[in-house]
Amino acid sequence: MTNRTFTLTDQDGKSSEFDVLEGTHGPGCIAISDLYAKTGCFTYDPGFGATGSCKSAISFINGEEGILLHRGYPIDQLAEKSSYLEICYLLLNGELPTKPEFAEFDNTIKQHTMVHENIRDFINGFRYDAHPMAMLVGTVGALSSFYHDSIDISNPEHREISAHRLIAKLPTIASYCYKHHRGLPFMYPDNSLGYVENFMQMMFAVPAQDYVQSPTAARALEVMMILHADHEQNASTSTVRLAGSSGANPFASIAAGIASLWGPAHGGANEAVINMLDSIYNSGETIETTIARAKDKNDPFRLMGFGHRVYKNFDPRAKIIAGLCHDLLDELGGDQPMFDLALELEQATLADDYFRERRLYPNVDFYSGIILRALNIPMNMFTVMFAMARTVGWISHWLEMHHDPEFRIGRPRQIYTGHAKRDYPS
Ligand code: SDX
Repeated sequence: MTNRTFTLTDQDGKSSEFDVLEGTHGPGCIAISDLYAKTGCFTYDPGFGATGSCKSAISFINGEEGILLHRGYPIDQLAEKSSYLEICYLLLNGELPTKPEFAEFDNTIKQHTMVHENIRDFINGFRYDAHPMAMLVGTVGALSSFYHDSIDISNPEHREISAHRLIAKLPTIASYCYKHHRGLPFMYPDNSLGYVENFMQMMFAVPAQDYVQSPTAARALEVMMILHADHEQNASTSTVRLAGSSGANPFASIAAGIASLWGPAHGGANEAVINMLDSIYNSGETIETTIARAKDKNDPFRLMGFGHRVYKNFDPRAKIIAGLCHDLLDELGGDQPMFDLALELEQATLADDYFRERRLYPNVDFYSGIILRALNIPMNMFTVMFAMARTVGWISHWLEMHHDPEFRIGRPRQIYTGHAKRDYPS
């Protein structure tokens, strides 16, 4: 889709013309695949802040206005009206399901919720104090060893069943990581339950007594998972695409995404936010000293849960989660003082030129830990929760990449700054 062009002219007056590709929403992209042929130069864009890596129809972010769309539907409407499994269908297939389509999809996912019994032994092989993210990344990568008969990525049926297996098994594996860490028996999936309720019982039920579901808690977790399902070409999704571009199987590609998400600048921020708030609350740090550290260029500390590469306005997901905190903390027995502290910290940044000039607002991770804690999910499981929810986004992008006629292995270029060519000493 193009009707605009860009002309580059060098200092000698030599001009090169490039097409501008226009999407449904958002800025146009200058198509530069033939830049080197025309100019003898590459582009240089560390962190890919101004570089489009692909065409995608899955999600769209308007960072200036704080808008997030999934297949065209605004995230606030989806969070209010949809379910996580319906979002999975939407992200995978592009349209909301009819009732029969949803029933079939729900049944399909239910057929894959169990994992091979050897996975239990695999997870029990980790040290008792292994971080759940270490267990998750290892276990998901190892999943491919159980499906040698169905990971031919050129086979669309293999691609589809792998997507279903990942969506179905992530909650089971995540709960096993938690139970191993706690030294508690693993619980099998119960397919008579909904997707989120099934996860809650695998996480918190014990064989010794019946588990009483909390509809409030289940709905709060469902909304959290909807809010974390997908987010354009973030670091972990780009990692999944790059790993998958070499032909890596879907389990290995998703494991690569889990590894990328673990970083504190990305999905690990939700755990880092609670540590930061705990530090203010329990160790005498004040909001003023915390903000001063975040602004100090000599201090590597950053205000966790703030800022975003794309949002230069409020992250709409943060607003919805803050609303969840307002509505649910009493009911869930959450940490109201910590929520009050978070609100106070947010207000302090809104009044501070450093944050205003850089347009640093709370992102999805700032309030999520407060809700997760209220759901009795321990801090070292926060990023596992993010990974479990984002799996559908990752695999949707992996599938979209395999359907893309412009699909090719990703291989960025560089500016070489090392030694000039030299001979080995004789
Ligand atoms: C997620 O991409 C996605 O979509 C990610 C995500 C998703 O759903 O997949 O939305 C999930 O990862 C959310 C982000 C979670 N991370 C954090 O909360 C960690 C804290 N935030 C920062 O590390 C940072 O804001 C990033 C990583 C989120 C964005 O980094 P950028 O875009 O590279 O921004 P930058 O480093 O270029 O910062 C621009 C300026 C710098 O100051 P100056 O050099 O201009 O003086 O803003 C400053 C930065 O120092 N800055 C911060 C800050 N974030 C940016 N200063 C203090 N505290 C911060 N949090």
